[in-house]
Amino acid sequence: MGVPDPLLAESLARIARDVDSMFDALLPSATDNRSVLDQAMRHAAIGGGKRLRPLLLTATAAMYGVDHAQALRAGIAIEAVHAYSLVHDDLPCMDDDELRHGKPTVHKAFGEAVAVLVGDALQAFAFEVLADPATSGDPFVRAELVKVLAQAAGAGGMVGGQMLDIAGEGQALGLPEITRLQQLKTGALLGAAVEMGAVLGKVPAEGRTHLRGYARDLGLAFQIADDLLDHEGDAAKAGKALRKDAGAGKQTFVAVLGADRAREQAQMLVDQAIAHLGHHGQEADVLRALARYIVERDH
Ligand code: IPE
Ligand code: IPE
Ligand code: MG
Ligand code: MG
Ligand code: MG
Repeated sequence: MGVPDPLLAESLARIARDVDSMFDALLPSATDNRSVLDQAMRHAAIGGGKRLRPLLLTATAAMYGVDHAQALRAGIAIEAVHAYSLVHDDLPCMDDDELRHGKPTVHKAFGEAVAVLVGDALQAFAFEVLADPATSGDPFVRAELVKVLAQAAGAGGMVGGQMLDIAGEGQALGLPEITRLQQLKTGALLGAAVEMGAVLGKVPAEGRTHLRGYARDLGLAFQIADDLLDHEGDAAKAGKALRKDAGAGKQTFVAVLGADRAREQAQMLVDQAIAHLGHHGQEADVLRALARYIVERDH
């Protein structure tokens, strides 16, 4: 459990290196009083996380022959939004967590005001990276990347999902509401990663349907796995506090279905995700392996 297959292990190691070095190169390093903000942005963005969104994006783009460096820039943008979402998710007014990626959360290390600013700045950084011609020489592609990420990040996506997550605390939501919550909170950004890979690959809309199906099933499976980790995982391996959702009254698949049925559901979704890639050959092997890994991971 938790050990990815060799192809995926290599892809995960490569994307982790690439993402760290590109963040290091692109994030600001001011020498005036902003240096605390810059250090805190680096604390949030560098040296932690599985980098699943950049890997989903670059692996999808690679299927359509996109240049790796360009796909990686788009991957950095989506990871910056993800990193910002975690900084804010961990704040005392949200989930109130002290540990992330095995390190103190940003507000613990730098204070709450700086953590709010880190999130704001990482979000702006993401769109600056996407809008740069180095990400794509085609202005239509750049505009579409911006639109896809903005939709997935905002009130119709991740932030909307976080709102449903907070509003749902202590309520007894049904499966359709929980599915909706999770699709927005987590599924939207994972879906955007795949979509942005397809945008870079100039895949026409009708050619993206199976990718969207893959991403939708993967996104739900991913969040069920996160909820199972909270329920029964090992905090030392996860690098974050666990056993918090039930006490906080969080509405999760595990809360409604119980762990065993939630696990079955996640496995079914993974099989379904992989089935969407049926007409692809080995160029989709990383996406297949990633789907399997998502429910087996221990962090
Ligand atoms: C954790 O996401 C937060 C959720 C969206 C459930 P990941 O498990 O992808 O976070 P890292 O970046 O790999 O730690
Ligand atoms: C966080 O979900 C999702 C986003 C940041 C959008 P969780 O609150 O379940 O994530 P963890 O468990 O803290 O990583
Ligand atoms: Mg949360
Ligand atoms: Mg949280
Ligand atoms: Mg969680």
